Amino acid sequence: MGKVVTIKNNKGGVGKSWITLQIAHALTLLENSNDIYNKVLILTSDSQNNILDYSGHSDTIIEKTLEDFVKTGRRNEIRLRENLYYMPLAKSNFSKPFREKLKKSIENLKTEFDFILIDSVPVLEIDQDFLELADDIVIPTYMDKATTEGIIRLMEEIDINKIRAIVPNRYIKSKKSEVMYNDLKANLDGTGILVTEPIKQSTIIHNFIEEGKTIWDSKSKDFESFQIIIYQIVEELLK
Ligand SMILES: Nc1ncnc2c1ncn2[C@@H]1O[C@H](COP(=O)(O)OP(=O)(O)OP(=O)(O)O)[C@@H](O)[C@H]1O
Ligand SMILES: [Mg+2]
Repeated sequence: MGKVVTIKNNKGGVGKSWITLQIAHALTLLENSNDIYNKVLILTSDSQNNILDYSGHSDTIIEKTLEDFVKTGRRNEIRLRENLYYMPLAKSNFSKPFREKLKKSIENLKTEFDFILIDSVPVLEIDQDFLELADDIVIPTYMDKATTEGIIRLMEEIDINKIRAIVPNRYIKSKKSEVMYNDLKANLDGTGILVTEPIKQSTIIHNFIEEGKTIWDSKSKDFESFQIIIYQIVEELLK
């Protein structure tokens, strides 16, 4: 049975979509317990479908969506890479019956995929379902006061036992951000929640995103430090 991992933060722009894609691609490069490469599906609660842009598929014409799948049971994912699939979303309003059916539909997908990663969007109703469905939760964050306070609130709202990693992203080094990072690490020490090394706000990442490439599409040493951080998260998800 596959595992559901929700990437969550109520703050916009912290890198939820980008990090979802990097983790998902990393998982497809590893073998599952049957010595077969992991098959990974990305879902989203964001009808902007940024995952398509970030993976080099911005020209894809969206024909079938998560909504269609929930209604008809017929799948038609978009293939992003070998073993990496995406099911786009068309809307952002959902009825109660739809939400009930969504849960069952995702349970069914678990028999087909080793991992289902969910790229969430701030404060949408179906995000609540995606948090409930999650086996694991990963929280990307900025290292500033407001966002850090936001994740403390978020940790009170969600099941803390599901949180596997907090990932400072788009990090700009300063005295303040360093203090905040060290405080966060110290506060979570002993909880079993990984606080990764910060992922820098980086021009090479920015350029790669523009080109629709992931950090795993490159053999350049420039991406090694980022790959190590994403791999640390992956290791938590494989436990
Ligand atoms: N480490 C990084 N270095 C440089 N640019 C980054 C980095 N991480 C993300 N970005 C860029 O920052 C922007 C926001 O990232 P992303 O879309 O993944 O955030 P998000 O949390 O999903 O946002 P939203 O809440 O709008 O869905 C994007 O333009 C992305 O290309
Ligand atoms: Mg996003």
